[in-house]
Amino acid sequence: MILVTGGAGFIGTNFVLDWLTQSDEEIINLDNLTYAGNLENLASLKDDKRHIFIKGDICDSTLILSLLTKYKPRAIINFAAESHVDRSIQDPEGFIQTNIVGTFRLLETTRAYWGTLELEMRQKFRFLHISTDEVYGSLSNGEEAFDENHRYEPNSPYSASKAASDHLIRAYHHTYDLPVLTTNCSNNYGPYQFPEKLIPLIIVNALTDKPLPVYGDGQQIRDWLYVKDHCDAIRLVLEAGAPGETYNIGGRNEKPNINIVHTVCALLDTLHPRTDGKRYHQQITFVTDRPGHDRRYAINSKKIECELGWKSAETFETGIQKTVQWYLDNQSWVQSVQSGTYRLWIDKNYKGRGL
Ligand code: NAD
Ligand code: TYD
Repeated sequence: MILVTGGAGFIGTNFVLDWLTQSDEEIINLDNLTYAGNLENLASLKDDKRHIFIKGDICDSTLILSLLTKYKPRAIINFAAESHVDRSIQDPEGFIQTNIVGTFRLLETTRAYWGTLELEMRQKFRFLHISTDEVYGSLSNGEEAFDENHRYEPNSPYSASKAASDHLIRAYHHTYDLPVLTTNCSNNYGPYQFPEKLIPLIIVNALTDKPLPVYGDGQQIRDWLYVKDHCDAIRLVLEAGAPGETYNIGGRNEKPNINIVHTVCALLDTLHPRTDGKRYHQQITFVTDRPGHDRRYAINSKKIECELGWKSAETFETGIQKTVQWYLDNQSWVQSVQSGTYRLWIDKNYKGRGL
């Protein structure tokens, strides 16, 4: 079996659901269900014995060691993190705790467990750390996309905490030979993404007749990847990646934010037209920019393509259509995640921006 952390969040949920459609290998899912974790995402697995959910914190060494000793996983995939840049700007403490201390505790307990394994299992064991392209900092237009050797230059408390965790992963391989793998992926989109991130926020606000907030001039560029393509890449790296190596994963889909927002609006105009004859783009509102906002991210994914044969299956056009349709079809999920604490966050983040 394998152990995943953060498997009730956006990417973790998609990974767990995909895993169990492709394999009967059991998954232990350790997640402490922060605002971003939602067990409803995994409701279809309620009676599935292959999925063992444990509510717990990756900072809890005693719990992790007991899980490792009891279940003896052949691999760990670490998705658990605080993941939203704007929250890291408002309140960085939790990012240091989960992303840095949590990864450290996970590594330390794994090192202790791994040291007890018999040779064959020790050799086959893998610790896969899920990271982000944001650790590389910001590109200007025309600069080459990030490859695995690009220098680390994180600019937000979020990316700095992820960079720190990547360095710990690297050090545990270098110092202790722990068989680690790291993936640095670009912006994901797709089903189950919490509506604090750009694409689901735009969909949710559009459908509730709210302003569609675009930071600054809307010309910041992100490289978008459909979440299931990311999950495919993770499975491939787990099975075929070389210990100690890093793999960059991206969709070759660089788009300015304003174009993303217009694309979502146009899809909604077709799939769910407003009843008053207006068009969704009329809700777009430019708001005060994010402090320290990175201008451009772009991933060079040649290494994973050439060495492991990965290729994304979705184009941006097919992926975004599926995503908008998923949010339209899952309105009860959307409502259930917009609790009181969600509304508090929206007030906190957007009030000062002139919305
Ligand atoms: P998310 O915020 O949707 O989910 C994070 C999950 O981790 C939640 O279920 C949460 O409850 C859980 N969690 C948080 N702190 C925890 C703790 N201390 N112990 C146990 N569980 C905890 O995040 P996501 O978008 O699914 O991202 C998953 C991983 O992928 C993160 O490591 C993130 O840095 C990385 N990543 C995300 C993107 C993206 O676009 N979303 C892109 C590249 C990399
Ligand atoms: P986000 O989804 O928060 O991901 P990240 O900051 O990790 O890239 O934001 C994606 C881009 O969209 C980023 O450049 C910030 C911008 N953005 C807006 O313009 N308005 C918003 O309300 C949000 C949440 C993000």
